[in-house]
Amino acid sequence: MNLADESATVALAQRLAARLKPGIVIYLHGDLGAGKTTLVRAVLNALGYSGRVKSPTYTLVEPYNAAGLEFRHFDLYRLHDEEEWEAAGFRDEFDGHNIFFIEWPEHAQGLIPQADVEIMFEILSHGRNVEIRGNTPTGRECLKQF
Ligand SMILES: Nc1ncnc2c1ncn2[C@@H]1O[C@H](COP(=O)(O)OP(=O)(O)O)[C@@H](O)[C@H]1O
Ligand SMILES: [Mg+2]
Repeated sequence: MNLADESATVALAQRLAARLKPGIVIYLHGDLGAGKTTLVRAVLNALGYSGRVKSPTYTLVEPYNAAGLEFRHFDLYRLHDEEEWEAAGFRDEFDGHNIFFIEWPEHAQGLIPQADVEIMFEILSHGRNVEIRGNTPTGRECLKQF
């Protein structure tokens, strides 16, 4: 799917927002500046969240509540090792209730649950290309007639 500009990314996020269920795990792949955080921000905004949505680059995770749903937005670019992961208590976040968006999931391989949905962004000279894959029954249900 081609996303010609940021507004196309936002439109995709709005469609996705309407289909999210508690516990779903979404991996976001793509280089720095590909639009991963833009998508999460637009999902939260679509669900009525009006506060700031900043990149969790240094905090690694930011929690949100929107439309009665609990969100955890991870950016694991700066996660160094398993010890840091355990020390931060991140394991406890995966309670089957929170909705997860995870940037740079490959930095926590083996520590985080498998993705229900994976979104792959590719930076083009103009806009972005995006591929969306459902890996589990939950993920496929989310993407049904998407
Ligand atoms: N479809 C798109 N086409 C062109 N630019 C986009 C598109 N979607 C988002 N952007 C822009 O690209 C940048 C993405 O930044 P960000 O979302 O922080 O990336 P990431 O989290 O992947 O590092 C922003 O400046 C945003 O305005
Ligand atoms: Mg980001």
